[in-house]
Amino acid sequence: MCGIVGYVGEEQATPILLEGLEKLEYRGYDSAGVAIYDGKKLEVAKAKGRLKILKDMLHGGSDLKGTIGIGHTRWATHGKPSDINSHPQTSVSGKFAVVHNGIIENYLSLKQYLMRRGVAFVSETDTEVVAQLLEYYYKGDILEAIIRVISKVEGSYALGIICEDSPNELYAVRKDSPLIVGLGQGENFIASDIPAILNKTRDICRLNDNEIVVLTRSGITVYNTDKEEISKEPEHINWDISAAEKGGYEHFMAKEIMEQPKAVRDTISPRIKDGRIVLDDITLTPEQIKEFRRIFIVACGSAYHVGVVAKYILEKMTHIPVEVDVASEFRYRDPIIDEKVLVLVISQSGETADTLAALREAKRRGARVLSIVNVVGSSIANESDDVIYTWAGPEIAVATTKAYSTQLAVAYLIAIYMAEALGTITPEEYQEYIQELETLPDKIEKILENKQDIQYFASRNFNAKDIFFIGRNLDYAMSMEGSLKLKEISYIHSDAYAAGELKHGTISLVEDGTLVVALATQQKLFDKMMSNVREVKARGALVLGLTVEENKQIEQEVDFVFYVPKTCDIMLPSLAVIPLQLFAYYVASMKGCDIDKPRNLAKSVTVE
Ligand code: M6R
Repeated sequence: MCGIVGYVGEEQATPILLEGLEKLEYRGYDSAGVAIYDGKKLEVAKAKGRLKILKDMLHGGSDLKGTIGIGHTRWATHGKPSDINSHPQTSVSGKFAVVHNGIIENYLSLKQYLMRRGVAFVSETDTEVVAQLLEYYYKGDILEAIIRVISKVEGSYALGIICEDSPNELYAVRKDSPLIVGLGQGENFIASDIPAILNKTRDICRLNDNEIVVLTRSGITVYNTDKEEISKEPEHINWDISAAEKGGYEHFMAKEIMEQPKAVRDTISPRIKDGRIVLDDITLTPEQIKEFRRIFIVACGSAYHVGVVAKYILEKMTHIPVEVDVASEFRYRDPIIDEKVLVLVISQSGETADTLAALREAKRRGARVLSIVNVVGSSIANESDDVIYTWAGPEIAVATTKAYSTQLAVAYLIAIYMAEALGTITPEEYQEYIQELETLPDKIEKILENKQDIQYFASRNFNAKDIFFIGRNLDYAMSMEGSLKLKEISYIHSDAYAAGELKHGTISLVEDGTLVVALATQQKLFDKMMSNVREVKARGALVLGLTVEENKQIEQEVDFVFYVPKTCDIMLPSLAVIPLQLFAYYVASMKGCDIDKPRNLAKSVTVE
């Protein structure tokens, strides 16, 4: 995710900003930049690639002199990674420089508004809109201009702002994106994350949504949007740097699990406008959608499991037959593909070798490729006909969690969008699905609030030797993900089975004390699942049941139950996956495993 650092004080700002940005490198980024007031004007230096490139360009910072500045590491969202798209972004005259974390959802309409009034844009970013708007509304009062701008922009933001006209003041404001203020002696800081400033100060203030802070070297003043001053209680940070990088969590995986409500919200909400799905990102027309006779989904690992869920959803909604393939198999199996086939490629990294090869094979055979990717500008994104990005931010833990959840969210968007184009759902169903989709982030949050129940169950079972996950239809797809998550980080042998298939062989493995996780979220299959639960219970299994809140009768069948909130059946995978991730995480943590870097695994598999 992007990183922000800002400084105002007596020392040279550039080396401090570069050092702060270095501390945020672990979060992932694709370009970096700084803006400094050099005594006469704002000077900006930025470069695509590693921070080292910028550092070398500025000779460690000595080339850019000045005691106030802002710095940024960018993880591309709007516009590819490039020098021009890097932050800081400036206004047309260069008077304002802005760094930004988050997404301005209505940037396109604001950009068009400004362009109609003669404002020229140079980048593809949503952030440039903020810089340009600031200058547009500025009439000599920067605070006033900021208040005007934040009343216009929709979405999430943490902003660091400097202006040539006020060379001793640094401004910052946030909404739905973290920003802290660091308090020093004769110097003050802003940062998106504590590690950036921890070697300078341990006294911080956290900004709340729509609070605007003005920093000078001697102090800070915080205002609300009515320009009234707000008092802030400073907080002293006792964490060490490695805890701070993980936001106070013990592992990146835990942090990323907890980030899922925001990641899913960020992925969905910019694409739903006035109750309708708007996929600005793609060029696929309803006419083209009507031409597809078959859909193939190709991916690896957890992304493949998203594909298995997506198959159920797409077939149900669009009535188009869907095949899901592990990418390493697809590329060698001579799939029957032509221009009437849509190939949906799913990848967090956008660089997985087998998935990329499968994409190329599909294109070679004439298919149209639509991909769901997290890393902007990655190879899969570049080579696809269309790409819909997930806004999960960088995922650091090898075991994917927030990327999985956001990929699933995009799969729902695509399915509903295509179904509407094809007329295979009614307008009422269309509205209902969108409403349910919008409630998912809150429901995920609710599940996370009950995480101690899963922690308790894990504490009783982390020594299990084998764990089976069973389910039917969508619950079977979820079983696969639950099982993979568990084995990759806890090293416990685990398998997923279609519950009805157990008695055709695998049930011979069930004996006294075997742990079985039974997913029973799908209403129409609930009774069938209870029969399968009875089968394994009769052979001595210990059963964790996972179902929706209304199915209280499950308590008579299983040893332990975890409930997820109700939503329409096809969206339950988005909720059911959360306890499965938590279970894997807690089991691995109790076993003392290296959770973020499990043995033998790499985050991005760029070899065949
Ligand atoms: O970057 P990708 O989404 O293409 O990666 C695919 C798999 O390698 C990945 O999902 C892997 O299975 C994860 N470690 C699962 O947690």
